[in-house]
Amino acid sequence: MNKILITSALPYANGYIHLGHLAGAYLPADIYARYQRLSGRSVLYVCGSDEHGVAITISAEKEKTTPEQIIDKYHYANLDAFQKFGMSFDIYSRTSLPEHHTLALDFFKSALEKNLLAEKEEEQFFDPKVNMFLPDRYVEGTCPNCGYDRARGDQCDSCGAYYNQIDLKNPKSIISGQTPIVKKTTHWYFKFQEFQEFLENYIESNSHIWKDNVLQQTRSWLKAGLAERAITRDLTWGVKLSELPELSADKSAGKVLYVWFDAVLGYISATKKWAKENLDDESKFADWWQNSETEYYAFIGKDNIVFHTLIFPALLHFKGNFILPKNVPANEFLNLEGQKFSKSRNWSIDVRDFLTDFPDSNYIDALRYSLLMNLPEQRDADFTWKDYQAKNNNELAAIFGNFINRTSQFLGKNFNSQVPKIDERYIGEWNDFIKYLDDNFKSSPNLANSDNFTFELFNDNDKLVVLSLWQGIEKSKAFLNRFKIKEAFQEIMNISRAANKYFNDEAPWKTIKQNPQETAKTLYTSTQLTSSLSVLLSPVIPHTCQIIHSFISNNSEIGNPNKATENENFWDKSKFPTLNFEQHFEIKNILFPFIEDKTIELQVAKLGNLQKNNEPKQEEIGVIDLISIDDFRKVQMKTAKILEAEKVPKSDKLLKLQIEIGTEKRQIVSGIAKYYAPESLVGKTIAVVYNLKPAKLFGIESQGMILAAKSADGNLSILTTDQTNFESGAEIS
Ligand code: 2FM
Ligand code: ZN
Repeated sequence: MNKILITSALPYANGYIHLGHLAGAYLPADIYARYQRLSGRSVLYVCGSDEHGVAITISAEKEKTTPEQIIDKYHYANLDAFQKFGMSFDIYSRTSLPEHHTLALDFFKSALEKNLLAEKEEEQFFDPKVNMFLPDRYVEGTCPNCGYDRARGDQCDSCGAYYNQIDLKNPKSIISGQTPIVKKTTHWYFKFQEFQEFLENYIESNSHIWKDNVLQQTRSWLKAGLAERAITRDLTWGVKLSELPELSADKSAGKVLYVWFDAVLGYISATKKWAKENLDDESKFADWWQNSETEYYAFIGKDNIVFHTLIFPALLHFKGNFILPKNVPANEFLNLEGQKFSKSRNWSIDVRDFLTDFPDSNYIDALRYSLLMNLPEQRDADFTWKDYQAKNNNELAAIFGNFINRTSQFLGKNFNSQVPKIDERYIGEWNDFIKYLDDNFKSSPNLANSDNFTFELFNDNDKLVVLSLWQGIEKSKAFLNRFKIKEAFQEIMNISRAANKYFNDEAPWKTIKQNPQETAKTLYTSTQLTSSLSVLLSPVIPHTCQIIHSFISNNSEIGNPNKATENENFWDKSKFPTLNFEQHFEIKNILFPFIEDKTIELQVAKLGNLQKNNEPKQEEIGVIDLISIDDFRKVQMKTAKILEAEKVPKSDKLLKLQIEIGTEKRQIVSGIAKYYAPESLVGKTIAVVYNLKPAKLFGIESQGMILAAKSADGNLSILTTDQTNFESGAEIS
């Protein structure tokens, strides 16, 4: 089984993604996708925006704009936030695309042809004041099941019950606030009950590997008995049935597909788009969706369970030849500082706001790590800023970063920043020990020991740390296979802990005086552990691991999902010593700078503070904020030549540059130290903003700004001219 298809629930394009969303269906899927790629499997990771349904039309009404503008605004904003956060989607599509509509209507047509749809006239709430039916959330009232008084038209957020709209008590139109009348309308109903037995078999054949929360909810639906469900709505926004020539115009007018019918099919239309764009052949989507060699995993939050365990499988089944989800790893909810996320109370952290305050990749990776260690895998969990700080300071910095910095610094002082050359037999013994562990303990890594292996060169510390490395790798695989992603990476962090202990116990600062060969071995082992850890942690902290790899080896693509090599299992390779003697090894950065209390206090103070205007402004609407040519002309940009460059003392980010713009000399302070050695910049012709107000950075005046581009994976490149020695001082327009 080499093909792994992964989907994350398509988020509605009517709001910004927040940390709760990340912890539900996105971060775990991304980590899993990155792990599978590193393990040599062929992975397709699909997501996109869910752009239909009343969630969108209601947002448009609230923001006094159109659904099109709403989806454009949030689709691009969320795509940008996801990319910066490091989501490694192969495609992030949209359900408003014509290709998606075609596919969804094709499913509807097949259902009609297979006699799986019933056309029925039913009573529905209607708001005479605005002359429209009130589907789904357009009406609120008291739940007929539990009495919750803000239940939605067809579903109660409090008890989870789904009911017939007209059973809702005390209904009120959310548009006019008035009590709706009841009026007849015709809809198509999906004969869900015909799939009862098929779905029972499907669920029970997977029950041994599915999570309890997913099984419980699914089984309770099956127990209650599946019933017909309306899959059309009276709305003007969505996949319009009038696009289907097979239906007569009078029947299809004003009808759209129910959003959940089309949304789940968005995974397939996104794959078609990916196949067209990447393989030039849309039909290749079938290699994934209609291939029994593919394993499909659908990551979701707990509010989406039955749509993915029952409704989607029923659609895939009736259409024919499609594979079904092998697992639906649904997470519970994440709370924030002890309370539910709530945009209206500003009790939320939008990813884009986080990225504005913490744009550097170390903070982003620390967020990924702290969310992972708090994943609501079994029960609801809580994100706190204090915990974010603690995870950064006490784990990433104090354990992982500390080990790497100690190794690099010691190597710098004593080995010319090169991987030490050591007795080859030590490498042989390491390889043999791993093979011995693989042969004897793969099925029960917990029991692994070195009792029956004869060592010649390994001392007790070496044995212990290599055993920890092997165990961490094997145990993490077992956890990942069961979607226990947090536990998997706790095992990997245990390797970091063992590595730190190894460095302490070996005390190379002592052995260097009496036994430099021993020191060389300690440092060889430590550099290899660094390299292995930066592979093994790359699914969680991809940006940082890529930086480490770019410093220590030619294999700098390991943190980069697009460069993982099919059929090459880096996960397993990390058990073995692979670094070359005397290869350069120098980690120049503090990987995880300490986060101060005051940084965190500022963030906590923002929560619940309604001063911040959450309502998007009208001018924010649209894909990008358009400016006029006059606005653009306000920014003067010129070419400049770098004359000198040096590091700013005590800053690991800033470089001080002396530049020449025509005849004028200026000084610019720029945050590019992580990406460029100062000497490599001298002589380059670059682009600068010429008329920026001077500012002080670290007490040093900066007279302008240099232009640079940052890629999604955190790589930065300054903009230069394509002719060497191009004159400085030239206008850029
Ligand atoms: O809950 C939501 O945000 C839905 N838009 C999820 C849809 S998942 C799938 F069907 F696309
Ligand atoms: Zn209820």
